[in-house]
Amino acid sequence: MKLSIISSSLASIALSLLPSINAQSSLPALKQSNTCTETCQELVPLGIEFEHDSHAHTPRDDFYSIPTNFTSSMKPGILLRVETHTNLANYTVPSSLTMSRIMYTSKSLNGTVVPVSAFVLWPYAPFEYTKNSKASNPTKFPLVAWAHGTSGQFVDCAPSNYRSLQYHFMTSYSIAMEGFAVVATDYAGLGVTTLPNGEQSHAWLAGPAGANDVAYAIEAVRKAFPAQLETDGSFVTMGHSQGGNVAWAFAERQAKSPVPGYLGTISISPPTRIVELVNSALNLLATTSITSLPVWPPVVATLQPNIIASITAVYPAYNFSGMTPLSYDRWNKVLKPLQGCTPTSGRAFADVPLAQLAHPGWTNNTYVQQWQDAVAVSGKKFQGPLLIIAGDEDVIPITDGGVLQESVSASCKASHDQSLEVVTYAAMQHFPVIQASRIKWMNWIKARFNENTNSNKKVTVCGKQSEVQGFNSNYTVQGTTPNWLVDWVTPLEGWKLAL
Ligand SMILES: *[C@@H]1O[C@H](CO)[C@@H](O)[C@H](O)[C@H]1NC(C)=O
Ligand SMILES: *[C@@H]1O[C@H](CO)[C@@H](O)[C@H](O)[C@H]1NC(C)=O
Ligand SMILES: *[C@@H]1O[C@H](CO)[C@@H](O)[C@H](O)[C@H]1NC(C)=O
Ligand SMILES: *[C@@H]1O[C@H](CO)[C@@H](O)[C@H](O)[C@H]1NC(C)=O
Ligand SMILES: *[C@@H]1O[C@H](CO)[C@@H](O)[C@H](O)[C@H]1NC(C)=O
Ligand SMILES: *[C@@H]1O[C@H](CO)[C@@H](O)[C@H](O)[C@H]1NC(C)=O
Repeated sequence: MKLSIISSSLASIALSLLPSINAQSSLPALKQSNTCTETCQELVPLGIEFEHDSHAHTPRDDFYSIPTNFTSSMKPGILLRVETHTNLANYTVPSSLTMSRIMYTSKSLNGTVVPVSAFVLWPYAPFEYTKNSKASNPTKFPLVAWAHGTSGQFVDCAPSNYRSLQYHFMTSYSIAMEGFAVVATDYAGLGVTTLPNGEQSHAWLAGPAGANDVAYAIEAVRKAFPAQLETDGSFVTMGHSQGGNVAWAFAERQAKSPVPGYLGTISISPPTRIVELVNSALNLLATTSITSLPVWPPVVATLQPNIIASITAVYPAYNFSGMTPLSYDRWNKVLKPLQGCTPTSGRAFADVPLAQLAHPGWTNNTYVQQWQDAVAVSGKKFQGPLLIIAGDEDVIPITDGGVLQESVSASCKASHDQSLEVVTYAAMQHFPVIQASRIKWMNWIKARFNENTNSNKKVTVCGKQSEVQGFNSNYTVQGTTPNWLVDWVTPLEGWKLAL
């Protein structure tokens, strides 16, 4: 079991998909690299080709260009662009749902105002509910603000330009099909960029910045569609992985600058204190024999270059200091020229040994510490209710030296008057846990909309824990990547969907 878990790391996923092309057909961009081995030359082009095939538009269409009337002296939450009806010919969006795209202003970690894109999924008809004994308005849609997990770190990695919007039936399609409008920010730096030359402007894993992107997306979508959404209408925030971190940060933001209409937050598999998590992973890798190693340390360790790049995006002067020359070359001379996203990122580092990903002790750097303090979620006041969901075999560990359990305790210490519940799912991994917990979170969302908050029977518990064992959980499929449920075909290949 342990071995199959280790093989779920990004690197091994890449290696298990060895392509059948030869090095001669490689991409010209790879010639800039002096470390891209034959394996790298073989793996990377197929990653890029797959990514391009998975985009609704290659290159990104004009929607993502910054309107000339944008200035960074604008306030956040200003609407910059509205595409009322997105042409869905190149998406897998199910029949009955429709989509819009918006561009709006948000605020980055250091307070700079930036343009950000988002998609909106519209149900066929709204979910009907009774809030505080009052029936919902049948012409308005209840709202779920969705915060996506890691899609990548370069501008091409915007879920709104992915044919399946990245999470497809796992979350966004399903939530919309239950009658909720879904507003899903791409996050600053994905889709729209303010930096030239392919520089990374996305602050990956910077929860408070992502929380701004979510908050201003809600403000902006209400302005864009006043006939469909009330200005203070009810909404739930929900995210997974990177988005679980963002959702938790959003609950903390609500305690300081509340967006009206808030009903609560769902955070699935959230990384909370990233640098501590990396330290803990490296420590376990150095001290534990491979046979008794938990699921997650090798996976977290493979993310070191991605984290270092993200710190550089926030503090350019840090300049990738933690990367080895090999990692620096793979990131800046392989991935960056191609603007590769998660599928290609794993492949670009697939043949780099763990020990060569980053310099020993890199997390002791002052920029790294400063970043950790600026982006960490948990241990602060938050507005509940907050539902946290995790898998026992998740790469974001709840126990076994992980930091999630400590994060829960710290948050309840800071906000003991708020409701926080943790539910773990036996045997489930990072993406499968979304499916395993669907009964829980879908009903939780609906219950928030149907709640009577004026009732004085409400009991608030911070830190309630439970575990769902699951039927046949040892025999379920554990897809380790998000996209195994859907496929897309061109109109000429439509016959393939007749099966
Ligand atoms: C779909 O994608 C193709 C290929 O990128 C592009 O030529 C076409 O314009 C797109 N169609 C729509 C409706 O966006
Ligand atoms: C920017 O210009 C677009 C038209 O190109 C307009 O729809 C939008 O309202 C303008 N936004 C602001 C904030 O001025
Ligand atoms: C804010 O951070 C971005 C990088 O994320 C940088 O380009 C910009 O110069 C910073 N602005 C200020 C005022 O520090
Ligand atoms: C950043 O680091 C790289 C690799 O060490 C070096 O080549 C480059 O000159 C540095 N850039 C700046 C602006 O210091
Ligand atoms: C990092 O700092 C810690 C505590 O300050 C120290 O124990 C550790 O040896 C340092 N690691 C490296 C590799 O310098
Ligand atoms: C599931 O597998 C684990 C590990 O192999 C084992 O310890 C456990 O007993 C199994 N559970 C069931 C219900 O079969």
